[in-house]
Amino acid sequence: MSYLKLKDISHYYFNEKHCTHALDHISLSIEEGSFTSLLGPSGCGKTTLLSIIAQLLQPTEGDLLLAGQPLIEQKNLIGYMLQQDYLFPWKTIIDNVCIGPKIRGELNEANLNKAKSLLAKVGLDHVASKYPEQLSGGMRQRAALARTLMTDPTILLLDEPFSALDFQTKLDLEVFMIEMLTTYQKTSILVTHDIGEAIAMSDHIYLMKTNPGAIHLHIKVPDQVRKLSPIEARKHPLYHELFDQIWKEMHTLDNQTK
Ligand SMILES: Nc1ncnc2c1ncn2[C@@H]1O[C@H](COP(=O)(O)OP(=O)(O)OP(=O)(O)O)[C@@H](O)[C@H]1O
Ligand SMILES: [Mg+2]
Repeated sequence: MSYLKLKDISHYYFNEKHCTHALDHISLSIEEGSFTSLLGPSGCGKTTLLSIIAQLLQPTEGDLLLAGQPLIEQKNLIGYMLQQDYLFPWKTIIDNVCIGPKIRGELNEANLNKAKSLLAKVGLDHVASKYPEQLSGGMRQRAALARTLMTDPTILLLDEPFSALDFQTKLDLEVFMIEMLTTYQKTSILVTHDIGEAIAMSDHIYLMKTNPGAIHLHIKVPDQVRKLSPIEARKHPLYHELFDQIWKEMHTLDNQTK
């Protein structure tokens, strides 16, 4: 059943001199609890699309529906994780995780206990009183995940959250993230440039093309790959077949835009 529906979304950025046609008639149907990846070249509108879903940006045209109703601002609907962790360097890890309730004036014992429990879940309880600079990149992203989960978002938007990490840490974090998202039953949308990451993590992949940004291809990841962990998925023959198919498509799109 469709949970989040994007109907015919188009977006233009205007200024005095230019008009950029960033998105062209994007329609997507996302199931509750599913993991969707948006894959595509730089400038194809991935971040623009996430900003529209996050309601940070009003699309020029089109509608967003959640469970059949127009998507309106709702408390704790969206959690957004970016490439940079944006932890406050002068605050400890536990204080960073508690920043949402603190800003809203809702920091109480229950929230503090929730933060501690989330830190334990992401394996960082032993560094709760340390500062971000004392942690590795992977640990900082896990702290950022705990901070995002603190508000219990229904939909998680992930804009290249692993791309600044080394390959080993990225794989570890992919496995970890899938476990967390499955446990908390989040509906997740990941933006990535990495074909392997998209296949290993997703139920659905949308391959986008640029100028203007549009959906070029929808790929449903086969069940045999989907049910495996991101590391095991990478060893499956169907993973390699899909990788080749997507790689060729991206190459063709690249040549068309040159
Ligand atoms: N605030 C803005 N003002 C004007 N143009 C913008 C703005 N933000 C993005 N664009 C343009 O819209 C298009 C889509 O940009 P967007 O950032 O969504 O792409 P992307 O797929 O996320 O790229 P990347 O992979 O590099 O992050 C690009 O042509 C970009 O230059
Ligand atoms: Mg982007």
